[in-house]
Amino acid sequence: MKATNIQWHAGLLKRGSRWKRLGRKGCTIWLTGLPASGKSTIAAALEFALVMRGIHAYRLDGDNVRHGLNSNLGFSRRDRAENIRRIGEVAKLFADSGCITITAFISPYIADRENIRRIHKETDLAFLEVFVDCPIRECMRRDPKGQYRKARAGEIKGFTGVDDPYEAPMLPELVIKTAETDVGECVQACLDLLASRKLIAIAE
Ligand code: ADX
Repeated sequence: MKATNIQWHAGLLKRGSRWKRLGRKGCTIWLTGLPASGKSTIAAALEFALVMRGIHAYRLDGDNVRHGLNSNLGFSRRDRAENIRRIGEVAKLFADSGCITITAFISPYIADRENIRRIHKETDLAFLEVFVDCPIRECMRRDPKGQYRKARAGEIKGFTGVDDPYEAPMLPELVIKTAETDVGECVQACLDLLASRKLIAIAE
């Protein structure tokens, strides 16, 4: 905290009344995994599936957010932590507003993800961590942006999975194995998770 002399200003609505009036519940569904594991694909398909059911959902994607809000950040340990911190705070606000917020970031460090879990818990918001689990060999085979090839050739330094670490979640709410499961089934698993937590109705 750098600013002093600041005070929280509550609005006229409590979260419960807002959600009740809107007929929605917000939460954060946090996809983490190696580059090319399938996070962005699943996030987009899940967002589509929810909005097509009339459910307010919005996706925050690493590559997109790094064009705007986080365009001043790189991939050092410190910058990745700041990237995740900002997104976590944004996701928390979206969730509070009643939105199902889907994030797709490598978010390679357990400590950074646990911080986001903590700030959600502190304000009683659901944080659902989804491990998009794909063997590194398969990620390298897919290599949709040619970045693994470049990283292995030394043209990109500090690339996650090649010369930078990825710490898999120990107790995620859901694990989806994208090398064995098609996109539709992965999306269904996320919808089932949301329904099991009563964040969406089963029939929706
Ligand atoms: S995170 O590690 O800070 O969570 P984020 O998800 O925002 O990463 O961004 C990952 C995207 O940045 C990848 O999809 C990839 O296209 C690009 N990228 C560029 N440099 C790197 C790097 N060194 N490590 C990982 N991804 C990188």
